[in-house]
Amino acid sequence: MKTYIVGNWKMNFTVGESSLFLHKLLQKVRIMRDLEVVVAPSLMALQPLSLQIDRRKMKLAAQNFYDKDFGAYTGEVSVSQIRSLVNYALVGHSERRYIFGETDKDVRAKVAAALRCGLTPILCVGETAEERACGETTDVVRDQVLGGLQDVSKEDLGKVIIAYEPVWAISGHGKPARVASPLDVEDVFKLIRKILSETYDDSVAESTPLLFGGSVKSLNAESYLSLPDCNGLLIGGASLIAPEFLDIIEIAKRVRDDRA
Ligand code: PGA
Repeated sequence: MKTYIVGNWKMNFTVGESSLFLHKLLQKVRIMRDLEVVVAPSLMALQPLSLQIDRRKMKLAAQNFYDKDFGAYTGEVSVSQIRSLVNYALVGHSERRYIFGETDKDVRAKVAAALRCGLTPILCVGETAEERACGETTDVVRDQVLGGLQDVSKEDLGKVIIAYEPVWAISGHGKPARVASPLDVEDVFKLIRKILSETYDDSVAESTPLLFGGSVKSLNAESYLSLPDCNGLLIGGASLIAPEFLDIIEIAKRVRDDRA
């Protein structure tokens, strides 16, 4: 299985800045077949960046889209409008769930739409601080995983990536985020594999890539990447700083080579 390093630029960078930033990354990122480097710029930048990117080195992801193909949905961008620009799409990011009110039903429709259009959905799940404090992490993660995958066949699960992002560990929301302990992360990875194995089977459970996200930086990337069940990282803030993001890519490459 590949290792995935995904940068989520969120609502940062103008189109021009996005293009300059991508240019910087492309100068340094090598072609590495066992490591998939992906960035998710704003929807505005997807079209120009799709012409600029070298897809052997890096791929593009959408941060969001609407699950219908065309129609009277003012302000939305459909999955079929972006399908030729990107390979991946984030679905169910906690900022979509908690700031914009996306429900598990919306998330399920988006996962299905991404798969229908040939994109790999990166399904994001994770509990809030309150839910963790009340001992609800297992139930929340189970509901979000099963809710998002409800319409996904065993065959299609092979095209899905799951990112565990505890909401309390995500930076940029006022309060300083807490850093998740690798042991806690590994527990949730094991839980997700168990849910997948009970719902599908052991082989798909083992082969579904699991990413961690939440205040990942070059300083702590190795502690997550070294976890037995970790197949990559979803990075927000640190992906906006080229040397940080490039360092994390190098760390991922080294951890992978050491494991081989
Ligand atoms: P962060 O964001 O790395 O800035 O905490 C991660 C994410 O929201 O995907």
